[in-house]
Amino acid sequence: MKFGYFDDAHREYVITRPDTPLPWINYLGCEAYFGLISNTAGGYSFYKDARLRRLTRYRYNNAPIDMGGRYLYLRDNSAGNYWSPTWMPTRTKLDEYECRHGQGYTTITSRLGGIRSSVRYFVPLGESLEIWQVRLTNENASDADLSLFSAIEFCLWDANDDATNFQRNYSIGQVEVVDDVIYHKTEYRERRDHFAYFACSEPLAGFDTKREEFLGPYRGWNEPVVVETGQSCNSLAHGWQPIGSHHVKVLLKAGEQKQIIFILGYQENPGDDKFDPPGSQIINKKSAKKSLEKYLRTANADQAFEDLREYWTMLLGKLKVSTPDQHTDRMVNIWNAYQCMVTFNMSRSASYFESGIGRGMGFRDSNQDLLGFVHMIPERARERILDLTATQLKNGGAFHQYQPLTKRGNNDVGSGFNDDPAWLVLAVAAYIKESGDWSILDEPMQYENEPGTETPLYEHLQRAIQYTLDRLGPNNLPLIGRADWNDCLNLNCFSDTPGQSFQTTTNKDGKVAESVFIAGLFVLACQEMAGIAGKKKEESGPSFVYPLSSDDYLRFAADMESTIWAAGWDGDWFRRAYDDYGHVLGSKENTEGQIFIEPQGICVMAGLGLENGNAVKALDSVGQHLATPHGIVLQQPAFSQYYLHLGEISSYPPGYKENAGIFCHTNPWIMIAEAMVGHGDRAFDYYTRINPSAREEISELHKCEPYVYAQMIAGKDAATHGEAKNSWLSGTSAWNYVAITQFILGIRPAFDGLEVKPVIPSGWDGFEATRLFRGVRYEISVKREGPGNEVNLEIDGKPIEGTVIPLPGNDTSTVKVRAVIR
Ligand code: GLC
Ligand code: GLC
Repeated sequence: MKFGYFDDAHREYVITRPDTPLPWINYLGCEAYFGLISNTAGGYSFYKDARLRRLTRYRYNNAPIDMGGRYLYLRDNSAGNYWSPTWMPTRTKLDEYECRHGQGYTTITSRLGGIRSSVRYFVPLGESLEIWQVRLTNENASDADLSLFSAIEFCLWDANDDATNFQRNYSIGQVEVVDDVIYHKTEYRERRDHFAYFACSEPLAGFDTKREEFLGPYRGWNEPVVVETGQSCNSLAHGWQPIGSHHVKVLLKAGEQKQIIFILGYQENPGDDKFDPPGSQIINKKSAKKSLEKYLRTANADQAFEDLREYWTMLLGKLKVSTPDQHTDRMVNIWNAYQCMVTFNMSRSASYFESGIGRGMGFRDSNQDLLGFVHMIPERARERILDLTATQLKNGGAFHQYQPLTKRGNNDVGSGFNDDPAWLVLAVAAYIKESGDWSILDEPMQYENEPGTETPLYEHLQRAIQYTLDRLGPNNLPLIGRADWNDCLNLNCFSDTPGQSFQTTTNKDGKVAESVFIAGLFVLACQEMAGIAGKKKEESGPSFVYPLSSDDYLRFAADMESTIWAAGWDGDWFRRAYDDYGHVLGSKENTEGQIFIEPQGICVMAGLGLENGNAVKALDSVGQHLATPHGIVLQQPAFSQYYLHLGEISSYPPGYKENAGIFCHTNPWIMIAEAMVGHGDRAFDYYTRINPSAREEISELHKCEPYVYAQMIAGKDAATHGEAKNSWLSGTSAWNYVAITQFILGIRPAFDGLEVKPVIPSGWDGFEATRLFRGVRYEISVKREGPGNEVNLEIDGKPIEGTVIPLPGNDTSTVKVRAVIR
């Protein structure tokens, strides 16, 4: 069953009924000011950091599930009835309802009793504010006497404190209302130099800033007494719960339309210019007023919206494909690329499953996310790499997370996740392949953000590789540390106390437990390092003084490969790990956790078994033991009970999350591996099983948004097999993008040029694509002329050897690529 449809021409998903199985959300903002917005206008806003600069309040895990947002109420003053034009919070039955989520904006349209309302929410580029553009139309034959109320609830900035520290919070709330603008200034009197403002384009009939006056005693947002009576109280909040509500009277003649704009903004003032007049306690409002003057005008708001659309047209235009499959097209051209940009902005901080107070920017996550957005915003990918690198530890290890506001490593979580450093190598390689910018390797970068510790970024990569070499276990496989990619495989944790964090509790020194996954990842990283080192030497000539050469890295890779065959191969698939007792995991010897998906993916991606047939064997085992119609589960058999020596993975009930859920992040590794062994049909089949668009028809089961990937779909051991959770912020986004675009469609940046090497389904007769790569537009046309995967390329009419298109001369703006597959 569907709850809407894709409007690909407008790059929108259109939700046609408000009661979706879960709130189906979208993101506003793409630079510093952000908002989450659901299909019924739920959600909240923040500046840069979802925890420390939260503008509006949102209560997670609420009932009804999506309570708190950017709410509006319409009141028919002659009849006395009222409703929410975005359905929530009054949930009045609407005659029409439609929500359009686009890139960085959401428009909710509805109609009740002949009054049409359309609200467009977005954040203009370059601004720290959001615009709500309301258009009201009276479609009746008689005049309408309406009141429009806005309503938001301010958060007292630190979202964690806001939700817990009531003994203080109930006394500190402060507002000012001047010239009909509501200013929220809690803590501005002391150490904060920022405030929020909430304004309306129309003269007000009244306002409210006290929640209890607006709602009335014991009432909820669904029935505010002010809306019921049509009378604002002009209340001024002192402590308790400051809110912002405007009241506008709207008289609409028959057929008349009117636009009303609301603006919610964030403003910082210099510390010595906070008050006006100086010495007073009154906010200096000059800077905010400028923005208000501009954006409270319809023409400027419209222009800002057009600019935003154009920005996204530009970003999404970097790669466009036209294939025989509409699900592929819309994910690649629109939604998957968009989701990759959202993960760039949010990492894992704020979604409807990530509360915005828990997680900073993950080191491994951010490096992987980069693979999905580097082609759209290479300059910002560069910045991200520099931010990550500067937090690296001197021993080559990594802080598991850093705080977005300070860009410093997070001491609470610390380090010791032994896969972390290797991902940096993959990210840098991807960046250089995309941009050709070798200069990044020479950037002087600090360790642990400590001035004076700078070395060229290249050395950071060397240390990242060395980190693994310095931490090998009894089988010569890499020690796992706290965990590897699988955060929940905690082989040194031994946690027996409720509430202990599996992320930070470590009870064993960890000299035994090893990870085959890290071994595979290490081989892959060494191969990338070899590529980088070779080229780097070529580029720098005699000034290249680093001790290790490309051959050294290939040797490290080869040695690790031998180790994997010796200790990490189980006969039909790759093993997963060795635990603290030295017992194998992910082997036929185990009764639970016999086979895991991660090492099959990463080892084949690193090229293991391509020659001796073991890659195909491992992938066949995946097909046999792990694949389900809803995607590939993480392992089998699921853990039936909690095992002290395995940790969090066995804490989940079977079929959920890391305990045999379909952890979508890992599925594209298998797609890539299948493509690498030439199985286009299988690769594409796996791609389709978890493609959200292809699952739209089963939305009542899938539950999450059909336009973005979710982290997890419940596995076959779960009671709710096929149900998705944790949508939006997941490495799933980047990796699926990589799998489909770089390995199935086969358009893949290389150090020396763009590679075109598709491994497409046998039923496809080809596809078309355009790719902007290092300033050149590649127009690619792929035709199938035989059943195999052999690729012959013609560049501007001339055949070339191999599948990497040499970089064209400086004056070339377009390259025509014809690929024939036989
Ligand atoms: C979450 C984490 C990611 C980890 C994965 C598997 O998605 O963000 O870092 O790799 O879970 O545990
Ligand atoms: C839990 C989750 C895992 C996530 C981690 C992040 O372990 O199961 O997916 O990576 O939390 O803190």
